[in-house]
Amino acid sequence: MNILVTGGTGFIGSHTCVELLNNNYNVIIIDNLSNSSIEVLEKIEKITSKKPKFYKIDLCDKEKVKEIFNENKIDAVIHFAGYKAVGESVSNPLKYYRNNLDSTLTLLEVMKEVNCHNLIFSSSATVYGTPKELPIKEDFPLSTTNPYGTTKLMIERILKDISISDKEISIIILRYFNPIGSHKSGLLGENPSGIPNNLMPYIVRVATKELPFLNVFGNDYDTHDGTGVRDYIHVVDLAKGHIKALEKSINFKGIEYYNLGTGTGYSVLDLVKTFEKVNNVKIPYKIVNRRPGDIAACFADPTKAYKELGFKAEYGIEDMCKDSYNYILKNKSN
Ligand code: WQD
Repeated sequence: MNILVTGGTGFIGSHTCVELLNNNYNVIIIDNLSNSSIEVLEKIEKITSKKPKFYKIDLCDKEKVKEIFNENKIDAVIHFAGYKAVGESVSNPLKYYRNNLDSTLTLLEVMKEVNCHNLIFSSSATVYGTPKELPIKEDFPLSTTNPYGTTKLMIERILKDISISDKEISIIILRYFNPIGSHKSGLLGENPSGIPNNLMPYIVRVATKELPFLNVFGNDYDTHDGTGVRDYIHVVDLAKGHIKALEKSINFKGIEYYNLGTGTGYSVLDLVKTFEKVNNVKIPYKIVNRRPGDIAACFADPTKAYKELGFKAEYGIEDMCKDSYNYILKNKSN
């Protein structure tokens, strides 16, 4: 089967391409390399001994996207491509609405024109806003607190409407919690340019002494140690969740939503202490003010994905901390 992966050279996309190739799917990647590098392709090949087909194009370019579908008989699409920095989306909402919505609408129009009926969409737990209770189930109320999250929610609504109008379509929406870690080989991982927004990439920069200390955004939340609690899931587990979703998608029509999380929440200080222990490093930190828009705690009820997809995260927080650091140690010279 031929699977088109948009954003396939990105952090989650590249790990998913590895799992797809390992499961004998043919992979075609569309990516404009705005937030990833072409070197990822050779790393995917090094891991799997298979080279995905790659097109460096912008998903908003409808003619080019149509050409790709005409050149390759695409059986299903996994749609990762999109801007994802929460802070940037607040300061530049138009960039996010234009890119994330236009690219998705272009993809959906072409899929309809060529009768490609299977879509897996990369959504985010951010669509739950501030959850009314924990753990979070898929039927909880949805709300967003930043333009990035709102683009995800808007796309979910667009997909819902399409599933009502097109009885042939099969849409699976995956709501990721907090993906961290990296492939055991150390060839793929997360190393954003500039000062990282997210916790794990920041901790790693402190571990390598590129940054002097971690700012802990508040220790006065209603959590076991006052710092923010999140459901961290290993990116390889997350990638494997897409294989399970693809298997379901092939024999399914309609739309379904699944949380991809572990069901366990860890605080900022839990992560710091675990990272220090497994990597034998010190992570100095300072308690500072809360980050605007942050919620106290967020973790998944993973039951539905387990019951309906047969998906269960296997890696623990120690693996995530070890693998995150291993990637940077293996690629520090770059
Ligand atoms: C985790 C915890 C912070 C940095 C975001 C997006 C979400 C998804 C994942 C795309 C929080 C604390 C963080 C730091 C800190 N992205 N923290 N110091 O905010 O849960 O989710 O990334 O889909 O959509 O919202 O992740 O890693 O930024 O923060 O104390 O320097 O770490 O307050 O409690 P978040 P995060």
